[in-house]
Amino acid sequence: MTRPLLVTGDETLLEELLRLAAAAGVTPEIAADPAGVLRAWSTAPCVLVGGDVVARAARAAPERRDGVHVVAWQAGADTFRAALTLGAREVCELPRAESHLVALLLELADAGRPPGPVVGVVGGSGGSGATTLACTLAQVGAAHGPTLVLDCDPQGPGADRVLGLEGRPGVRWDVLARGGGRLGAGALRDAVPSHGGVGVLTWPPDVAAVDAVDGVAHREVAREAVAAGRRGHALVVLDLPRGGDDHVVELAGRCDLVLVVVVGSVPAVASALRTCARLRDAATLGLVVRGRGLAPEELARVADLPVVGVLPEARGIAESVDLGLGPVRSARGPLARAARDLLALPQVGLVPGRGRAA
Ligand SMILES: Nc1ncnc2c1ncn2[C@@H]1O[C@H](COP(=O)(O)OP(=O)(O)O)[C@@H](O)[C@H]1O
Ligand SMILES: [Mg+2]
Repeated sequence: MTRPLLVTGDETLLEELLRLAAAAGVTPEIAADPAGVLRAWSTAPCVLVGGDVVARAARAAPERRDGVHVVAWQAGADTFRAALTLGAREVCELPRAESHLVALLLELADAGRPPGPVVGVVGGSGGSGATTLACTLAQVGAAHGPTLVLDCDPQGPGADRVLGLEGRPGVRWDVLARGGGRLGAGALRDAVPSHGGVGVLTWPPDVAAVDAVDGVAHREVAREAVAAGRRGHALVVLDLPRGGDDHVVELAGRCDLVLVVVVGSVPAVASALRTCARLRDAATLGLVVRGRGLAPEELARVADLPVVGVLPEARGIAESVDLGLGPVRSARGPLARAARDLLALPQVGLVPGRGRAA
């Protein structure tokens, strides 16, 4: 259902439209004669009609529908008249309308992709490695398509810094919170700092600008970002602050799975139990044990929650982050492997070599 219908007998126009479709990642269905595609006309998610056949298409009188666009090298009065008869939404002239058409096709691609899973990560105690895991999941998840980290922790180090994206251009929470309104999936993906298929929505670098972000506006835009992020990405990861207020509880509730990172010391476990208690009614929680020194079965028993993964104590994370490469230096390393296992959990469903599991 994501294949747009292209109707044209003009070879150069067809070539051009196929190029634009490829740029958007969609594969159109092609027909030279409008009379032969009356059924596809009604079922295709969008129809592009070449200026060369628009008059014939109007005469064939296909069913009236939305999403019909006439594309021509040069549109004359005849073209506009036929487009009106067809009920077309617009007449686009190439090459001027090139980027407009790509945006249109990208929207189709977004609509055809199943919404990506949303995974929250929260530290059971301070410095447990939540932000590192969030960024790791986004890096490893990028094998499935574009991924997005929503940095929901204004006190954290900045997920952009951990991913090496702090110097990249793009919008941050402050800009979006001022804007308000609905966020488009493709627009959000294009607006945030990103590299190699990993994007990040984070806080402005200076504290005054962070403090100036209106709480209510941020709450609304965070909600929007989760929804739009899902539609435009193969995976969205929320880096959630510890000891969060009800806003954080709400965000956790929007996740398909929230991972609580627990390190193995008595105070850390005590703190993790408090974090879980705050979130467990609202969200689906899974514990992730970092390092040795904590038996997973024992933790699962005292927390009354499943342990869904074990994070290795990885060397070289700090160096890799310092180099601007993010926590994952090698896709074959133990950290990446642990992240892949977490992404393959049924609540997330990103299994290597397969599309998203149903
Ligand atoms: N799996 C890991 N192995 C080794 N060091 C880690 C690991 N995860 C995180 N760290 C290190 O621990 C410190 C705190 O990590 P961070 O992700 O900022 O924690 P949190 O977000 O929970 O406060 C960082 O210096 C980070 O490099
Ligand atoms: Mg953190």
